[in-house]
Amino acid sequence: MVQPVRKAVFPVAGLGTRFLPATKVMPKEMLPVVDKPLIQYAIEEARDAGIEDFILVTGRGKNLMEDHFDHAYELEAILMDRGRAGDLDTVQDLAPGSGQLSYTRQRRPLGLGHAVWCARQFILGEPFAVISPDDLVLSTPGCLVQMIEAYNEVGGNVVAVEDVPREQTNRYGILDVESDDGRLAKAKGLIEKPDPAEAPSTLSIIGRYILQPEVFDHLDKHETGAGGEIQLTDAMAKTIGNIPFHGFRFSGKRFDCGTKAGFVTANVAYAMERDDLSDEIRESIKAFL
Ligand code: G1P
Repeated sequence: MVQPVRKAVFPVAGLGTRFLPATKVMPKEMLPVVDKPLIQYAIEEARDAGIEDFILVTGRGKNLMEDHFDHAYELEAILMDRGRAGDLDTVQDLAPGSGQLSYTRQRRPLGLGHAVWCARQFILGEPFAVISPDDLVLSTPGCLVQMIEAYNEVGGNVVAVEDVPREQTNRYGILDVESDDGRLAKAKGLIEKPDPAEAPSTLSIIGRYILQPEVFDHLDKHETGAGGEIQLTDAMAKTIGNIPFHGFRFSGKRFDCGTKAGFVTANVAYAMERDDLSDEIRESIKAFL
């Protein structure tokens, strides 16, 4: 029996400079895909997977996210007055319960590994998930639900992976694969953002992880890697040999909402999933193509 995953860490301290001027005062995680902010998709995916404790690693200028997940008494009173029961449910259901959502700050942008390390005091010896809201996965069931199923079979560290074109390996953490059954790839090593010529495979890590707390033994050392940053990939790589490490090929479509093209495409794809929007959007888009 593996230890259940009850906690999830959301690294949300990034500046989002790719989306300026939209992100001058607004956190990039508050950018909406159709009508819901990216951070809310991430929280809902975790909640659907049975996560009970949600830890946001924030930074300067990210307070809007705390407000988003708080009660909005005035708004709720107005919606109630106006008999807008559907909208009222939407705003009341969007947050985890009191005491389930915690915030800690990454005071300097020292890398993803450092952001996760900042959440260490909330984890305390348990396995945990990491969800990057930039990576949106359109799937039923959600990506983390699928990952937990796989984790229940193999335990250890499990990351969601997908194949990328070889020329893109320098954007991702890449697996050095020992064995692969087409669904789960067992890794014997990991490299952060290798040059295409040196990449041991094209299997890339997306922003979904299930990690054992041993990863903190390595993050504690604050060793820097690719780009001079404290890399989560390097800390995970060091656990290989002691803890099984698997890449899990999820089913669904991943959108990299950290890029403009990925973000706009996600908006179209999510709108097409909606009964109230798909016909109109399809017709409008046709006019441009
Ligand atoms: C981070 C990780 C990388 C991973 C990627 C997935 O990179 O360091 O291993 O493949 O997220 O989104 P970043 O996108 O922060 O540069």
